[in-house]
Amino acid sequence: MRNRRAALAAIASAASLALTLTACGQNSEGGSEEDKGGAEGATVGIAMPTKSSERWIADGANVEKELKSKGYETKLVYGEDDPDQQVSQIENMITQGVDALIIAAIDNKSLGNVLQQAKDADIPVISYDRLILGTENVDYYASFDNEKVGELQGSYIVDKLGLKAGKKGPFNIELFAGSNDDNNTKYFFNGAMKALKPYMDDGRLVVRSKQTDLNQVTTLRWDGGTAQKRMDDLLTSSYRSARVDAVLSPYDGISIGILSALKSDGYGSGDKSMPVVTGQDAEVASVKSIIAGQQTQTVYKDLRELAKVASNMVDAVLNDKEPEVNDTKSYDNGAKVVPAYLLQPVSVDKSNYEKVLVEGGYYTADDLK
Ligand code: GAL
Repeated sequence: MRNRRAALAAIASAASLALTLTACGQNSEGGSEEDKGGAEGATVGIAMPTKSSERWIADGANVEKELKSKGYETKLVYGEDDPDQQVSQIENMITQGVDALIIAAIDNKSLGNVLQQAKDADIPVISYDRLILGTENVDYYASFDNEKVGELQGSYIVDKLGLKAGKKGPFNIELFAGSNDDNNTKYFFNGAMKALKPYMDDGRLVVRSKQTDLNQVTTLRWDGGTAQKRMDDLLTSSYRSARVDAVLSPYDGISIGILSALKSDGYGSGDKSMPVVTGQDAEVASVKSIIAGQQTQTVYKDLRELAKVASNMVDAVLNDKEPEVNDTKSYDNGAKVVPAYLLQPVSVDKSNYEKVLVEGGYYTADDLK
């Protein structure tokens, strides 16, 4: 049990013992309250970014389930993609006396002050999926190998276009990245670029829009509508006399927007086949789209495992133990290197979705009908 909780428990236990003694006129021999030990009954605050995406709804539910199975109480809040709302939700949970916090940040840099309040109240903080930047007050990070996510997307495109097998192309590609206030964005993008850049450099992949820098291709709050608008604009400005062969998309919600723009432009019908379009999260709508031959690929991250990792971290910290980590160097948040446990992402397309997602128990076959 952490010091603060132990101290509070000791005060409460002493007070209750004093009351017992006064009421019954007994001495203290053998009369002390049973010490439950551990952190059972402690409350964990869980701050998730938005309900607008299926994955975060699953994350909230999975984390609650894991913590409850260990005997914890939970408070789960969603910030509706509004950083200020998330800050005040976390403030409220601190005031309400939660014992630990699990946070998937909306804006990775907006939590410094509120996490100082958490620190002052001796509340440990686990950064969930997205690293919180610029503060020492993040104890551990539970996530996936985010650079690997990007590598899986980039190398999928390379393979699918036949570049590795020696095709010359040139093929036209457009690049999309995630929200610029999410630390994962640059990891995904850099990972993808590792695979794509050699072919961009030798001219076999061409970005007709010339928008190749991360800051030209981000999508605020991962919004599908924003991506759709940008894809519409790209098709108008750069593809009136050429075809798009591939689109790097970092996330299923963005892929859906991109696919809508492509469909409106006639892709996916007649002899205008869909380009290769990547994604991430294996959300139901996107897996269905993959089965229907529209989106090409997604990157599956088993959120059940992520919830376990984060819950185990909380459980360890609240019991004064060292959580298991497997990376102590990759995630420098500007104030410190945050010890992390990183899970492995898996590339999924039409050829393996049944094996990975259905046989793996993530979805039932009916979920995908
Ligand atoms: C990222 C996360 C992705 C995706 C995206 C949009 O931080 O790692 O899996 O969910 O947010 O929600």
